[in-house]
Amino acid sequence: MKKHNTKELAFYILKEMKIMGFTMHKAASNFTMQAQKKDMKKTLQALSKLTQNCIACHQTFKLK
Ligand code: HEC
Repeated sequence: MKKHNTKELAFYILKEMKIMGFTMHKAASNFTMQAQKKDMKKTLQALSKLTQNCIACHQTFKLK
């Protein structure tokens, strides 16, 4: 029987995480930009997108 390839699995998880992390960072800078422009409506929209990214990643990695 073959051993589980943990290296391959770790690589897959890291890749997923990188993509999500990148999306989150983009959402975060967008939030900062809108906040600096003092556009309340867009700031709240950006914040909502940002938190959705947080939740998505935590769900993927099964955080309590
Ligand atoms: C790329 C995936 C990813 C994204 C995006 C992400 N997180 Fe996390 N977060 C994690 C992981 C994985 C942990 C668990 C780290 C650990 O247990 O050591 C964590 C832990 C946390 C914790 C600590 C939880 C605890 O019980 O100690 C907080 C708070 C948190 N994240 C907030 C956020 C917020 C707010 C955002 C969005 C701005 C965010 N995270 C975006 C992956 C992510």
